[in-house]
Amino acid sequence: SSPSILPTTHSKWSARQCELVESIANEFILSTSKLEALSKEFIHQMHAGLGQDKSKDLAMIPTFITGRPDGHERGCYLALDLGGTNLRVCLITLKGNHELETQQKPFKVPEHLQEAHVSELMDFIAISIKKFIANKHINAKIVEHRTGSDTLELGFTFSFPVAQTAIDAGTLLRWTKGFNCPGAVGNDVVQLLQDALNRKEVNVHVAALVNDTVGTLLAHSYQNPNTFIGAIFGTGTNASYVESAQSIKTMKTDAGEMIINIEWGNFDKDKAFLPVTIHDNKLDRESINPGIHVFEKMISGMYLGEITRNVLLHLIDHRVLFEGTSSDILNQHWAFETKYMSDIEKDSSSTLIPIAQVLEQKLGIYLNTQVDREIVKFVCQLVGKRAARLSAMATAAVIRQGLAHGALHSHGYPLKLDLDEKDDADKGTGSSEAIRVGIDGSVFEHYPHFKERMQECLAELLGSHANELVQLGIAKDGSGVGAALAALIAAKNTKSA
Ligand code: GLC
Repeated sequence: SSPSILPTTHSKWSARQCELVESIANEFILSTSKLEALSKEFIHQMHAGLGQDKSKDLAMIPTFITGRPDGHERGCYLALDLGGTNLRVCLITLKGNHELETQQKPFKVPEHLQEAHVSELMDFIAISIKKFIANKHINAKIVEHRTGSDTLELGFTFSFPVAQTAIDAGTLLRWTKGFNCPGAVGNDVVQLLQDALNRKEVNVHVAALVNDTVGTLLAHSYQNPNTFIGAIFGTGTNASYVESAQSIKTMKTDAGEMIINIEWGNFDKDKAFLPVTIHDNKLDRESINPGIHVFEKMISGMYLGEITRNVLLHLIDHRVLFEGTSSDILNQHWAFETKYMSDIEKDSSSTLIPIAQVLEQKLGIYLNTQVDREIVKFVCQLVGKRAARLSAMATAAVIRQGLAHGALHSHGYPLKLDLDEKDDADKGTGSSEAIRVGIDGSVFEHYPHFKERMQECLAELLGSHANELVQLGIAKDGSGVGAALAALIAAKNTKSA
């Protein structure tokens, strides 16, 4: 066997440690050709989703948003962002000229509401909006920008899979990311919120509903035209992109292009292609939604720590880590947070004392040797790197779809559609403008090396021009601004209709 996949420090590891860690590494390391095969399958599943295929993995949801902002939009809108555990209410003033101003207030969603009846959740949201607009400063801004009608227009970012039927209507397909409120699946989310606003006598009109990835795409476009993808790598993961209308077989539109919410967390739900390990399967089985969003469970912040915990327990059970002894904390489901992985991966000291601190203070593991810490760090790297490479694989697939069939088609980018294709390294990129990917989420923002690992993998798949031609940009809190832009687009549509 080749020891080269183990870190250079492995010479101090026992033969048994090397053997077991190496077999885990073999399962987690994804070669370029494996990713290439996955990327082909991803495109295949995109096409199935754009067609009438009933048993689709990728929902490929038309958003009814045609066209992208160019930075000239103006107006004052409310935006609401319900993602994971946080609710943000924002007032967004679009000033044209790519400039904007945001006032916002976060509200913590009480944990019990994640599984309470949806009307309780919506009442909480309505009351939060009421509190927000009652604030003196906010109110002054609203009055300053009032344009006739007393009703404020609101864009609602709702980061769950919704089958949209209009820019301001859509039914919830399923809950994800730990939410499970009865009364929502199959119902119109906009109506549920509007009803709560009416119940609580809040004079606000829900004008548009967007997924967070769509909001991110719109917000990034406002500042960077030529944004093609909006992606989230946070508690969950997903992306949306611009598709040419003729490729969308599930609806008819007169527009040339429309933003599609891929819901890529559900890629390959039958695990026919994804390289899931026993550690992934264990996590899935013990989650509140087994068999759903398996891809997301290999990538996003809600799950990475738990995969790592499973691997560590496996090594403990084989008596090659911490002398075979776990702790009460480490034995607890979800107790190993993804944040600890970030702290562990950040440690590049020779003694790995910061890792010892995480192990002791956060996990109650007091007996840890240098070798233990090296192994823990290596496991985090395996899990973190796999997540970044799978993210890049999906991003590359979406770009290839755009290049081969969709909105990027006519631009002539020297990027590889296939691993066997010649790499036009010396051809130069001519005047091709970079394809922009707007990204938000804690994993992309805070996980060490996540972006660099993605870039490295994008270059493996798309060729040597990838990092010049595909720009991964942060769109922090973009979904609020994006929701405001969607409300503006919706208001315009009603006027012109
Ligand atoms: C989950 C949701 C999806 C959302 C993503 C990122 O995958 O299903 O709608 O975009 O998380 O927040």
